[in-house]
Amino acid sequence: MSRAEIRAEIVGTGRYLPERVFTNADMERLVETSDEWIRERTGIRERRIAEEGTTTAGMGLEAAREALADAGVTPEEVDVLMVSTATPDRWLPSTACELQAALGTHNAFAFDLHAACSGFLYNLSMAEGYLALGKGDVALVVATELMSGILNWEDRATCVLFGDGAGAAVLRRSEGERGIVSHHFGSDGTLAGLLHRPAGGIRKPLDQEGLLKREHMVQMAGREIFKSAVRAMCDASAHALEKAGITGDDVDLMVPHQANMRILEATARYAKIPMDRVYVNLDRYGNMSSASIPVALDECLREGRIQPGDTVLSPAFGAGLTWGATVFQF
Ligand code: UT7
Repeated sequence: MSRAEIRAEIVGTGRYLPERVFTNADMERLVETSDEWIRERTGIRERRIAEEGTTTAGMGLEAAREALADAGVTPEEVDVLMVSTATPDRWLPSTACELQAALGTHNAFAFDLHAACSGFLYNLSMAEGYLALGKGDVALVVATELMSGILNWEDRATCVLFGDGAGAAVLRRSEGERGIVSHHFGSDGTLAGLLHRPAGGIRKPLDQEGLLKREHMVQMAGREIFKSAVRAMCDASAHALEKAGITGDDVDLMVPHQANMRILEATARYAKIPMDRVYVNLDRYGNMSSASIPVALDECLREGRIQPGDTVLSPAFGAGLTWGATVFQF
């Protein structure tokens, strides 16, 4: 890996998971499904579902505070605050501005950058570019997703898959060998209709009929998304590894977006990374959209699963379609 190419590093992480655990047995009481079906098709056993009154910004705030404390950075030191969310508390203003006020990051400019489940990696790459250009010293990236608020709880094909949570990372301009080594990203807007919320925006405002049909909630063509996810995560991983000048053999840990165990297995197999070097938490949290990767990174760092010097590969895929992969050196 070329030291000269490393421009920004993660110096602190944090996470927030709502306390309420919602098991597959709880799901069986809601929709026509079974623990066996959910575990075998997805690998999910339980997920966290936020109590009523919880907000997307509130969850992000907890994760961000933890990340700042971990980094030893004060709110005033943050130059840019970026938020990834598909579940904003309101359409205007951005969740990032709400967070800025709550955190007291008065010197930062704040904005949301939305790329669905790939959002954390997209945000990281923008933060990296900003720091690398010398425009600032500290970036705070927060991914916060209250997925339970946009799920159709009568649709077994989607409601069993997702969970709520938030993760955050503090980045600094890197002066050593640690940091973001490479990225590879892609998007395909022609397939937007495979995973979307059809109503509730400007194009199709929510009316009585849309409300009854739950058109403001997530709809997904699961099988098509599955195939695209495998293809895109394998491809992005291969490109990111190639840009870093390494192979799967050099990866100490893969920390992927957590959507489906079979997607993780296929991506790992393609990158030639054995499953004992793949971090999995989707059994406990389900798919937390863009919060999946930062929550997983935080767990790995705090539990010592990632050690100084380790090379980590994080691939992601989501609505848009969007996808990407990032190689880190910790
Ligand atoms: O974060 C990125 C975006 N999301 C993803 O990456 C998710 C990608 N997709 C998937 O993970 C999988 O496609 C699913 C888990 C969503 C579905 O698994 P699948 O093996 O592709 O199942 P399927 O959609 O082909 O459905 C198989 C059967 C169907 O019944 P019939 O038509 O064969 O009788 C479904 O109606 O399973 C049925 N089914 C369920 N049965 C029990 C669908 N959902 C459920 C359920 N419980 N929750």
